Amino acid sequence: MDKQIILLPGDGIGREIMESAKLVLTAIAMEYNHKFTFHEHAIGGDAIDKYGVPLPEDTVNACSSADAILLGAVGGPKWDSIPVHLRPEKGLLGIRKSLGLFANLRPVKGFASLLHASPLKEEIIKDSDIMIVRELTGGLYFGQPSERRENGNVVVDTLYYHRTEMERIIEKGFQSARIRNKHLTSVDKANVLESSRMWREIVNEKAKDYPDVTVEHLLVDAAAMKLITQPNQFDVIVTENLFGDILSDEASVLTGSLGMLPSASVRTDGVGLYEPVHGSAPDIAGKDTANPLGMILSAALMLRYSFGLEEEASEIESAVNECMEQGYHTADLKLNGGKQVSTKKMTEIVLGNLTTKRISDSICNS
Ligand code: NAD
Ligand code: IPM
Ligand code: MN
Repeated sequence: MDKQIILLPGDGIGREIMESAKLVLTAIAMEYNHKFTFHEHAIGGDAIDKYGVPLPEDTVNACSSADAILLGAVGGPKWDSIPVHLRPEKGLLGIRKSLGLFANLRPVKGFASLLHASPLKEEIIKDSDIMIVRELTGGLYFGQPSERRENGNVVVDTLYYHRTEMERIIEKGFQSARIRNKHLTSVDKANVLESSRMWREIVNEKAKDYPDVTVEHLLVDAAAMKLITQPNQFDVIVTENLFGDILSDEASVLTGSLGMLPSASVRTDGVGLYEPVHGSAPDIAGKDTANPLGMILSAALMLRYSFGLEEEASEIESAVNECMEQGYHTADLKLNGGKQVSTKKMTEIVLGNLTTKRISDSICNS
């Protein structure tokens, strides 16, 4: 398989973890005889420093013609006080919007050997396996106007959704539930927001097309509570942009660290942008301590969703799982015991687990 992959390392720990994903993909390409060609482009603060804008045209053009995109993270204190339209985050929002990546899939599944790494009780998080399907290109993030008025004393943000934007993400939620455990939790705030009332109507309409899927409606405040008290009651969660953003960072607690969570931002064809759920972690940037696993697992999602390479994706996931079983962890996972390692060392261990598996497979088959 011959694929053109755009790398957008971005800011903070973005570059460190991107290097890890690139090494893992290079190893996979060698083992399976694929040709992955990497093209690096600027986004976020990195692009502001180089070109004065968070999303250069060249980056958009490259992403538009690529087979898939990997993104590290954007943002940081260096760019926090610049005009809002130039903020690094505008680069990320802009690339999602211009590529039409309306569905953000955020799988949250704890590794068995990390159950004790979560501040939540093991018996609560045991067996939890959740897919958060977050709307990504609408809602409060993109509604206009979004501005200050009356000498800065009045503020307006607009929550705008067209019915079709809700329909396609809700459809994605149902499809996802159908191929998983057939339970869909729709999260909204229908007791207050008109947008949520339309959302709920659409969920109920679509439910008729999916009689095999059980639908549950939860208000977002209750959902936030249930997510950490009864996480194993969830299968697929479908929700709008802002609720999904907040709930997915909360759900990361089930896995022990935000640094573990991958995500896929996709549309209806195979093109996608793959990025960890976490941000640029300015507090630990440049120290070789960041957890690269969310990024590496995002690369695995790219292989699965954009290229249909299930075996290769599973091999990466197994290699990561093996690291956990061997007791290796980066500093963000507060483990008693185990072996704390750097970003680079963790990457080497993942690579070693990949190779070991291939060698043992070839011995078994010969
Ligand atoms: P963050 O996710 O960057 O960090 C939150 C906490 O988690 C920090 O203590 C950080 O050290 C830790 N953390 C995050 N990822 C980690 C990893 N891989 N390994 C170890 N520890 C990790 O969120 P924040 O501090 O609120 O935001 C920092 C910047 O990142 C902001 O500018 C924000 O806008 C941006 N951001 C970007 C993205 C993205 O690019 N997708 C996502 C979220 C936040
Ligand atoms: C995420 C981030 C982004 C979001 C920010 C950086 C714009 O928090 O990917 O979860 O809110 O979508
Ligand atoms: Mn977020």
